[in-house]
Amino acid sequence: MIYVANWKMNGDKEFVHSILSEIKDNILPFLSDGSTLVLCPPSIYLSEVNDICKNISIEIGAQDCSAHEKGAFTGEVSAQMISGTGTDWVILGHSERRQYHAENNVILIDKLQAAHNAGLKVIFCVGETHQQYNEGMTRDTLQGQLAILDDTSLVNLNYIIAYEPVWAIGSGLVPKLEEIDIIHQFIKTQRSKKTNLSKETKVLYGGSVNPDNAKEIKSLKSVDGVLVGGASLSSNKFKQICI
Ligand code: PGA
Repeated sequence: MIYVANWKMNGDKEFVHSILSEIKDNILPFLSDGSTLVLCPPSIYLSEVNDICKNISIEIGAQDCSAHEKGAFTGEVSAQMISGTGTDWVILGHSERRQYHAENNVILIDKLQAAHNAGLKVIFCVGETHQQYNEGMTRDTLQGQLAILDDTSLVNLNYIIAYEPVWAIGSGLVPKLEEIDIIHQFIKTQRSKKTNLSKETKVLYGGSVNPDNAKEIKSLKSVDGVLVGGASLSSNKFKQICI
């Protein structure tokens, strides 16, 4: 299982230090064998979190990176800069970036290339809105979002997918277990049709994962892990999700 904590724009220095020591003492030693823990703090804390986690088996991820390599892009952080902090992963295509920062396939393809060039592994988020869900457009929407991975420049991209229905994020709503299972299988099939890899694409579920629903979601064979937002800000809740 892969457990990703997306802290979004939350926490301060003190929070970072205390949650890291709680995760180190109360979660890490109890994770089942073969599990991966990825923590995604705000980019300002990446260096510090990497330093603290240096000799611990916790992987670190950024929540976004610039589409540009360098230059006059005030406020942006490049994939290379992120990688320079020792960070392994970057989340790209999160629905909050798509929604509030108008990130579309054109921008995302550049970001994916930038991440690849910097040697970062990508957690690529896809998901439908409630309207698309109600209109039975989930598969079409996902297909459109996944299509950019077929770009020839991205054949060697190291990525996993996070299926996050937009309407499930932060809402307390979660699709039915069968729906999660069917969509995860759909994503895996889509990707296997497009790649020559014998390896199956890993797919995480994200959207209102909490201690009450994590066990059932994780029990689905098609679920390779979870991407947790709100509940990852409490080490106690995150522990109940991971263990
Ligand atoms: P949530 O967020 O767990 O708070 O719903 C998930 C996410 O946005 O990645």
